[in-house]
Amino acid sequence: MSRKVIVVNGPNLGRLGVREPDVYGHQDLETLRRDCTAWGEELGLEVEVRQTDDEAEMIGWMHRAVDEQTPVVMNPAAFTHYSYGLSDAAHMVTDAGLPLMEVHISNPSARDAFRKYSVISPVATGTITGMGFYGYRLALEAVAHLLEA
Ligand code: DQA
Repeated sequence: MSRKVIVVNGPNLGRLGVREPDVYGHQDLETLRRDCTAWGEELGLEVEVRQTDDEAEMIGWMHRAVDEQTPVVMNPAAFTHYSYGLSDAAHMVTDAGLPLMEVHISNPSARDAFRKYSVISPVATGTITGMGFYGYRLALEAVAHLLEA
């Protein structure tokens, strides 16, 4: 398994910092990219942060993660709640024995009714919610831990 980890972010997360800052904070995607890269360096992981609004692109990233044996940290954003295609693709990652940590900046279960269910959680290795950007650090620590195990 590779020490490379992809940190993939779904729709509208390119608007971090301007989108509902009371929910998602004032820091932007570039800051998240810098934070995750620095945390990765501390943990001995080579982190690549990506964002897409396109479900097909995100699914393609999962296929490539399987082919290249790359662990995944995923904030599926709104795809969390309805994308069975992404759920199946995420399942292929964990089925291949690779860690896939689901992260949410907010705590979706404390919000709108439609956010209470995740189609990703049942196939993820683990889920971290409600910890802001720090949740990505916790997810990277979990990946590092699993790689040692
Ligand atoms: C989110 C929560 C989702 O419900 C929402 O659609 C997002 C972001 C989070 O990080 O808290 O876009 O995944």
